[in-house]
Order: sequence, then C-alpha cells, then structure tokens
Amino acid sequence: MRPVELMTHTTPEPARLQSRAGAVAAAAGPGLIRTHNVVKRYLVGGTEVRALDGVTLTIHEGELVAITGSSGSGKSTLMNILGCLDSPDSGDYFIAGEDVSKLKSDQLARIRNRRIGFVFQSFNLLPRLSSVENVELPLLYAGRHHAAAKAREALEIVGLGDRLDHEPNQLSGGQRQRVAIARAIVTDPAIILADEPTGNLDSRSGDEILKLFETLHQQGRTILIVTHDPDIAAFCPREINMRDGKVLRDGAPAAGLTAHGGD
Ligand SMILES: Nc1ncnc2c1ncn2[C@@H]1O[C@H](COP(=O)(O)OP(=O)(O)O)[C@@H](O)[C@H]1O
Ligand SMILES: [Mg+2]
Repeated sequence: MRPVELMTHTTPEPARLQSRAGAVAAAAGPGLIRTHNVVKRYLVGGTEVRALDGVTLTIHEGELVAITGSSGSGKSTLMNILGCLDSPDSGDYFIAGEDVSKLKSDQLARIRNRRIGFVFQSFNLLPRLSSVENVELPLLYAGRHHAAAKAREALEIVGLGDRLDHEPNQLSGGQRQRVAIARAIVTDPAIILADEPTGNLDSRSGDEILKLFETLHQQGRTILIVTHDPDIAAFCPREINMRDGKVLRDGAPAAGLTAHGGD
C-alpha cells in the first residue's frame, strides 16, 4: 500500500461531493449505525442530568462525520455509547442491523473489539512498547493471527513505516496520534471513533491528522470525529451538532458551506 503522504495530494472535492450525495441517497437504507431515541441520564447530587436526551441518527458505511457542540452537550457520552463502552438507559442502538443496546458488558466488549476502532485526544499508547507492539495489541486481544505483519502494514498506511521500533516518547505528538490511528484501523473495524483527535496537537500536526482521516475516508472507512473546532467540522461532509443531549442540526457543515464557497 502507498504511504499516506502520497495520497493526501489527490483531489478531495469529488469524494466530498459523492459522500454528501451518498449520505442523502442512502438515508432510506438500514444504515451501518442506527440509534433511535437514545437516552442516557446521570444522577449528580440528587439532580438528574440528561447527557443524551433522545438521540436518533443513522450513519452509513463510508461516511466521515463531525460531531460538534459546546462542552457538556453530550458528545463524549454519545461516543461512549456508539463505541459500546456504555449502554443507553433507554432507546435502541443497532450496528449493522444487530441490536447492541441491551447487551451485557462481556458481549459489548466482544462487539467493541471486533467492530470499533478508537482514537483519543491523549493518544493512550503504552509507553514502553514500540509502535509495532502498540498496534499489535488489539489483534492479540482478539486472538488474531499475523499480528506483527498486520501492525507493520497499518503503520505503513499512516506513513510511519520508518518508525516501527520507536517508543512513544521517541515520537512527535502527530506521530503518536498516527500510531494510535494505525492501532484503530489494524482490526479493520466497521467504524472509527475519534474523540478530539487533534486537541493535543499543534495546528500543523492537526492538519496532517485530518488529511490522514480524509485519506482513510477515501478508502471507504467509516469515521466519526468529535470536535469543537469549526475548521475540522468544515472538513467533513456531514456535521451532527449537539446541544443539551439532543441533535440540534444534522447535515452539511454550516461553516463548510461558506469555507468552500457554497459548494
Ligand atoms: N460519569 C458522569 N457522571 C455524571 N455526569 C456526567 C458523567 N458523564 C457526563 N456527565 C454529564 O453529562 C453531560 C454531557 O457530558 P459529555 O458527554 O461529557 O459532554 P461533552 O463531551 O459534549 O463535553 C454533562 O452535563 C456532563 O456533566
Ligand atoms: Mg467530551
């Protein structure tokens, strides 16, 4: 496979337009991810907080979606539920047609391992392991074969084929996040969930990570990026904007329409 540096210079515009049209055209289909009226409550000091207050959404295979909203609007709670780290109090959640909203924690863990790739703001790499060893981990947990070869391949995809044996503290922030992205894609998950993936990076490294997500999107992967950065939202064909645990707006990013001259 070609390293990502070579692929980031392809013209993104047709892909962006296609995905936007695809999102609309496929809305009638079953959807890779489908939630219906998902509610998640927390009791804090006797007061109920509705972190998610009836979230209904459909995400189709191959979409690149930004989830935006101010702090406390429910973005991370939504990611935790979509990522099978947590279950809704009520409502339904289907991944590829399978109802996962009522599964027990060990069943959830299995779905998570098989279908979800996570990318976190703080990278969450294990410090004394090399890039290859970090990327191998989800394969080893899942008992999959040829872990080292698959890990090397994933690192090549993210442009780190020359940093296989480096430990996290021998890498820049942007490179660490690339290792984390390699770890997220190595199991070939149905969906990649990234919570503020550029939040700890300078703007240049952040841009590189975004380009990498765009390349992975062009390869057909399904990606959700939580962000409070309007530039990142503008980069995605679709933006789901949250407020007070509800979906306030869902469609082409408002900022993107201006930034791209209303395309
Ligand atoms: N574990 C928790 N216990 C209590 N309240 C929580 C917990 N997690 C989130 N909340 C509350 O739920 C709401 C949504 O939080 P969160 O999903 O983290 O928002 P965001 O990621 O958009 O900043 C907030 O009001 C937050 O205080
Ligand atoms: Mg959050």
